[in-house]
Amino acid sequence: MKTIFSLATWFITVACFMVLTSLPVTSVQAQESDPEALVLKSCGTCHGLNRVCKALGKDATWWESTVNRMVKRGAKLKQEDVQAVAEYLSQLEQGAKFVCD
Ligand code: HEC
Repeated sequence: MKTIFSLATWFITVACFMVLTSLPVTSVQAQESDPEALVLKSCGTCHGLNRVCKALGKDATWWESTVNRMVKRGAKLKQEDVQAVAEYLSQLEQGAKFVCD
């Protein structure tokens, strides 16, 4: 009985440890692929974000080819983030605060 109990304690300890150590990793990943943060970080360096603001209202296909063009020009965006950013921008309403203010 005592062995079973300590075995269970051991498993719970290991499980808690795994959850705790995996938490910071997941939150960092979520932050990295946050399209809003990516736009703020990579789209206002060559031109202002108002350039992005003026184009709001276009569809996802237009954004995908535009963002790809920006990457070719030198925007620091990973290929796997292009679609997320394009989709995000296509869903923003014209005048959206975070790029227009
Ligand atoms: C390396 C410099 C650079 C970076 C970084 C950059 N751009 Fe541009 N962007 C340009 C240049 C140069 C133009 C004008 C020529 C053109 O349209 O291709 C432009 C034009 C634009 C236009 C107007 C296009 C049109 O056809 O009306 C939009 C919208 C735009 N950029 C969005 C973005 C977004 C979104 C990002 C972030 C993913 C970004 N840009 C990052 C250089 C850059």
